[in-house]
Amino acid sequence: MTPTPVPRISLRQPDDWHVHLRDGAMLQAVAPVTAAQFARAIMMPNLRPPITTVAAAIAYRQRIRATLPDGCGFTPLMTAYLTDTIDPAEIERGFAEGVWVAAKLYPAGATTNADSGVTAMARIEPVLAVMERIGMPLLIHGEVTDAEIDIFDREAVFIERVLAPLLVRHPGLKVVLEHITTSDAADFVRSGPANLAATITPHHLHINRNALFAGGLRPDFYCLPVAKRELHRLALRAAATSGNPKFFLGTDSAPHSREAKESDCGCAGIFNAPFAIESYAAVFEQEHALEKLEAFASEFGPRFYGLPLNTGTITLERRPRQVPAMLHLNDAAGTAVNLVPFHAGETLNWRLGHQ
Ligand code: NCD
Ligand code: ZN
Repeated sequence: MTPTPVPRISLRQPDDWHVHLRDGAMLQAVAPVTAAQFARAIMMPNLRPPITTVAAAIAYRQRIRATLPDGCGFTPLMTAYLTDTIDPAEIERGFAEGVWVAAKLYPAGATTNADSGVTAMARIEPVLAVMERIGMPLLIHGEVTDAEIDIFDREAVFIERVLAPLLVRHPGLKVVLEHITTSDAADFVRSGPANLAATITPHHLHINRNALFAGGLRPDFYCLPVAKRELHRLALRAAATSGNPKFFLGTDSAPHSREAKESDCGCAGIFNAPFAIESYAAVFEQEHALEKLEAFASEFGPRFYGLPLNTGTITLERRPRQVPAMLHLNDAAGTAVNLVPFHAGETLNWRLGHQ
């Protein structure tokens, strides 16, 4: 009897348009994980200290490459961390030299390592004018930081108070609203100009805010922007699987040590890199839109950034596999870095293989 062939799909190799690889031992542990999934990835610059100079970006890129085996084709795409005092000439120079592909706006205090972020948009007007002129994308953590605004409303309020006026002031600026979490954001991006796009994470497609409180407090589901109500999750799934090129893949994989997650003030961030494409594939299959996965994962992002599409291929096989409760990754010294992956303990139906 011939065995039934395993259903499989082939995709152009995908990229991750938003990831945190950190530095030091954590970088050594997680960089190979992202490199195994993606051809290129946008490196978030929220290190300590943040990446605010071309020299720091080049050095960080070198540290990333040093974690990867020889012959690994992975390309880290570097970003600048915008501060109130960043020099527009430095931004322009790094972009012209091909070091930076984008700059990241963190409203000061909005998230992990955002304390050096921007305190008022007026402070970075000269930088934004330069970026608009040279075609350098602005990547935005879109949440207001006012303590009196309910945390579940901070993205929607940011769109109204900050993003909409920004697009009026800089109609030619390329903007990516990162890791959108609301129907408000999906609607705003969909109806906005062609130079406005958004990334969507796997976790915001899978969980709503109930996951944070299921049977107790669940720090592994805590990230920023925080997951919202079910209606928002459904709106994000509709956007991601719609085939609209304004929505593309960005994992926001954000590893933190166990101690940092499980403390009296636990860090925001979900480590989804190990099974990222499998996680997206699950969503697209559930939405009967597997044929739309390739464009979302591998085409819309590079087109928005003006970069070539990858030429390699990956294969996903439909073979169920249980995600481990904990991953024991190694740093360069062989010391285990223990991280809980997104989907820990669950079964995912797709497995990644390379052709
Ligand atoms: C990110 C991190 O840990 O750096 N955390 C997160 O919850 N997503 C920062 C960010 O992207 O907000
Ligand atoms: Zn992030």
